[in-house]
Order: sequence, then C-alpha cells, then structure tokens
Amino acid sequence: MIFSKITGIGHYVPENVITNQYLETLMDTSDAWITERTGIKERRYFTYGKDTNASMAAEASKIAIERAGITPQDIDFIVYATITPDYYFPGPGFVMQRELGMQGIGVLDIRDQCSGFIYALSTADQFIKSGMYKNILVVGSEIQSTFLNTSNEGRGVAVIFGDGAGAVVLQATENAQHRILSTHLHADGTYAEELYVKDPGSSRSKRFYDDLVEDNKTGDVFMNGSAVFKHAIVRFPEVIREALDKNGLKPEDIDLLVPHQANLRISEYVRQQMKMPEEKVMNNIQKYGNTTGASIPIALCEAWESGRVKDGDLICLAAFGSGFTWGSALIRW
Ligand code: COA
Repeated sequence: MIFSKITGIGHYVPENVITNQYLETLMDTSDAWITERTGIKERRYFTYGKDTNASMAAEASKIAIERAGITPQDIDFIVYATITPDYYFPGPGFVMQRELGMQGIGVLDIRDQCSGFIYALSTADQFIKSGMYKNILVVGSEIQSTFLNTSNEGRGVAVIFGDGAGAVVLQATENAQHRILSTHLHADGTYAEELYVKDPGSSRSKRFYDDLVEDNKTGDVFMNGSAVFKHAIVRFPEVIREALDKNGLKPEDIDLLVPHQANLRISEYVRQQMKMPEEKVMNNIQKYGNTTGASIPIALCEAWESGRVKDGDLICLAAFGSGFTWGSALIRW
C-alpha cells in the first residue's frame, strides 16, 4: 500500500514586527486587553515591495524542499491554501511555481480559511495514496495585514491577525510506521457570514469597485467573535476525538497537538477539554497572531525545529475557522 509522509518542512515570516504597543498608537486598545483576550503579544506584517503572498510561500517551500533532500524539479504537484491571494485570480500558487522554476506541474488553490492547510494536506494525501503523485508541495501563505481596518472600528478583528507562510513536502512511502494516519474534514455553511469578507464579491448590482467606493466597509473582515469562540471550542475537541477514534487511539497517546493558532484562550480551553499537559500543545500565537492558512505549518515547523517533533511521535493537527470549517490530521512522524 502507498501512504504519504511529511519529509520536509519550512516557514517564513516577514521581518516587520508589529507589537501590541504599536497597535495602541493606531487604535483605542491596550496590550493588556489583547493579551488577556487572545494571548497575542506581537505579529508580523509583510513589507510592501519585498514580500508577496507567493514570495513568502516560495521562501518557506525552498526550506521544506531542501529538508526533504529533493529539488523543486522533483515536485510533481502543488496544493496551496490561502484566502489572501496577491491577485484576485490566478492564485499565488502559480506565481510561486514560476518563481521556483517548477513550470508544467499542476497547481491547486484551496480556499478553506483557517482550516485551509488541513484541507490542503488531506487533498495531497489522497493524491499520493491513489498513486497519482509522489512528491507534493503543500503550502499555506497569507498576507492579511492589508485587509485589516486598524482604526477603532476594526479593533476587534485587527489585533488578531498577522502575515506569514509555511510549507511541507509530502512524499509517497510504503512504510506504514511513519505516515499520515488519517485526515478529517468538515464544514457548516449555516455560519458563512459569521466570519467573512463580503467584497470584492461577484453577485452585486454594481461593479465591486463602485460598491467599495460607496461603502468601503464591505471590504472589511466581519467577525462575530463570540459565535466563532463558541463553535471553535466544541469543534476542536470533537474533530480531534474523531481522528483518535478512527485510529483506536486516546488523547494521552498524542505527543504533540498543533492547533490552528486562532486564539490562545481557545487552545487552552481545548487542551483542558482533552486533559492534555501544557507541554503537549504547541502555541506560538504570542509571536505571530493568527496567520489563518499559514498558522499550522508555521507552528509545526517551529515545533520540529525546536525538537518537539521526533521520529515515531503521534502528532495531531486541528483547525477551525471561517465557513465554518474544521478538520484534523493524525500523523505518525
Ligand atoms: N481593544 C480594546 N477593546 C476592544 C478591542 C480591542 N482590540 N476590541 C473590542 N474591544 C471592546 C469592545 O468594543 C467591547 O467594548 P464594550 O463592552 O464597551 O462594548 C469590549 O471590548 C468587549 O468586546 P467583546 O467583543 O465582547 O469581547 P470578547 O470578550 O468577546 O472578545 C474576541 C473578543 C474577538 C477576542 C473573542 O470574541 C474571541 O476570542 N473570539 C474568537 C475569535 C477567533 O478566534 N477568531 C479566529 C477564528 S479562526
């Protein structure tokens, strides 16, 4: 049987550090409010003229490919998760493919918001298990800072999000000991408008450009924070348990849980629900904020680099976000 295995991982965060103290100069907020509600101390914003969604992904991908011991030309497919493309279309995966000299191979854009990386990983896993591809680059990259309203009006959302990119190389293996065990994907569109950006949307009475000029608030992120919170703390434990049940495992078998870095309070609540010790849950939201599709590969990469992911470990990835979407992946490293 063919399975898939993560053989290389990399991440890139822009150098521009935005502290809570800096946000205090833009809006009526405080380090204490942000820290208490979200756990975030700082986040990164891209540098205009230096970083693009595609260029950040390319940097992360180069590291992942090198660590996998292969070259960009060995990659035979790209799955790229983002909700903040450089262009309205085509997606940044195509530009990144060009930047890395991988022209000719297929590129699949995934738009599943904070669960995007799990959806991308799951999709790549199926392509490998079917025998269609052997080496897939799976990417999550976001530039969200340009979408944030950093005035008082947008402060409930703006303080949470940041920019960054992460990537993994997924390769075919016949070794059943080290592989992705299972992935689990869910969504409930009932809540599509509880966390969304309305424009630029197509189904409008006028060109979106005119609409935005008339009422530029439709281009802002809208988030019903308490609805997101309430659903997240139910769906995270549910989808982690689903993955464990599928594989006949228990929460205590998990060596490291890498949750989507939505909010430290959510991660902490999930950890307590799962009765897991602090050292078994990866959190780096304090440094990067919520980087949506990029958060899991960035967190997994930092965990791996610091020696928290070892051969044979049971790693659980889990996400919840806009859509609403949620998902998990269980990996025997
Ligand atoms: N700084 C200071 N005050 C702020 C603020 C900020 N950045 N943002 C909002 N406030 C104010 C509000 O205006 C409100 O003031 P009021 O009581 O005078 O009306 C007060 O703080 C409380 O606002 P509220 O929205 O009720 O706060 P909350 O305790 O629900 O926390 C979130 C807001 C967003 C932190 C919280 O709902 C949350 O964590 N939700 C989940 C969000 C998430 O994880 N999103 C990512 C999903 S992938």
